[in-house]
Amino acid sequence: MSIALVILAAGKGTRMNSDLPKVLHPIAQTPMLVHAMRAGGALNPEHTVIVTGHGAELVAKAARAEDETATIVVQDEQLGTAHAVAQARDALRGFEGDVIVLFGDTPFINPETLQRMIEARQSHDLVMLGFDIAEIQPRYGRLIMEGDRLVQIVEYKDATEEQRAIRFTNSGLMACDAKLMFELIDQVSNENASGEYYLTELPALANARGLSCTAIKCDEAETLGVDSRVDLAAADGVFQTRARTELMQLGVTLMAPETVYLSADTVIGRDTVIEPNVVFGPGVTVESGATIRAFSHLEGCHVSRGATIGPYARLRPGAELAENTRVGNFVEIKNAEIAEGAKVNHLSYIGDATVGTGSNIGAGTITCNYDGVMKHKTKIGENVFVGSNTMLVAPVTVGDGAMTATGTVVTRDVEPDALAVARPRQENKPGYARKLFDMLKAKKARRDKGS
Ligand code: UD1
Repeated sequence: MSIALVILAAGKGTRMNSDLPKVLHPIAQTPMLVHAMRAGGALNPEHTVIVTGHGAELVAKAARAEDETATIVVQDEQLGTAHAVAQARDALRGFEGDVIVLFGDTPFINPETLQRMIEARQSHDLVMLGFDIAEIQPRYGRLIMEGDRLVQIVEYKDATEEQRAIRFTNSGLMACDAKLMFELIDQVSNENASGEYYLTELPALANARGLSCTAIKCDEAETLGVDSRVDLAAADGVFQTRARTELMQLGVTLMAPETVYLSADTVIGRDTVIEPNVVFGPGVTVESGATIRAFSHLEGCHVSRGATIGPYARLRPGAELAENTRVGNFVEIKNAEIAEGAKVNHLSYIGDATVGTGSNIGAGTITCNYDGVMKHKTKIGENVFVGSNTMLVAPVTVGDGAMTATGTVVTRDVEPDALAVARPRQENKPGYARKLFDMLKAKKARRDKGS
């Protein structure tokens, strides 16, 4: 069966108290909308229509970055969920198949649940997704059931006391034949407590035509919606707990799981050990058998097998670490390839650079990659020994097997096997230290006497 997704994302999200449209607030560094798109995307939809409104341009940009084939429609005025879905009518003209309506602010929906909705559609004309609420709350529409037949949905505001006590509530997600859905939407009125066009009127309208409606159940955690920053933090927490558990099940050691922050796209191989307080920003892949030591921050990078990072290391976008590399404390690596077995162990910045196999970068080395206007590249060959506190003023190349003396400022290329020294020659003055000490002590004594 062909499937089209309609994802509602026009709401303002007043309670977020933000300039950013609600659906773009991130969970695990990924906008909520993108989470919803990925869940729906697992069904291989023929069309994905995003209904935008508040912050439409920003929302459209984020949606297209995830799926450039997504169709963006705009709901100028937010007149209710049925009105929102109606905006997808032109985009889906001629489409024959099922529409699944998703909410952009409900990021945890499981693709398997959506699959179950599609399966339920084989025996029912309209399928809603519901869940049992643990506590009665004045928030969700109530699903009025007779056996497995969904009679109607009553919004909390419009419900009687008796209906409000029902725990089977509406997630808002729906599956229905496209043509039928738009026909039913045409019949929706806004005569209710909110004066909105409710999508939740569809079951009653379908029943009136003698069609069959049902509601299937999912876990409350899947329908967790986000309305405020407090909800957002809670949702992120739910994501983190799940993702950490999955990683541990896949054979990754998290020494203090609750202190490791993951992104939605973090990939970590088995037998890798993650020490406490590590942050994974977007776009990180760590292969098997690596060690990420405490307080490291990784983003947009690739760490190969057997590498050791940190403690207190920062890997920025474009850091590409080959097997068995070592990046130690207070080292920042950006847009740089560190080849197999190379070491950058202490207090260094390696940016816009390549470091060859087996090279050792001494403490305090800086690739001076920026001249204030442009970025330049540093190339360090194989088995190079870069002495501590070397400044490599890019663009510059250090050949294979070369060495730089401690404290050297390298401004010219160094040929292979050469030693680069660029610092004043040392001079020792015999007896001078003793003289200097005596002079200073005498000065101090005179000062103490005077005061
Ligand atoms: C809706 C359901 C309710 C359900 C609840 C679950 C209706 C009428 N009610 O209520 O039964 O229990 O979800 O969370 O559907 N939106 C638009 N345009 C609009 C209105 C809404 O795009 O004109 C979007 C919102 O951005 C949001 C989603 O639709 O993503 C749900 O809208 P919201 O107003 O939050 O619905 P609820 O009142 O929560």
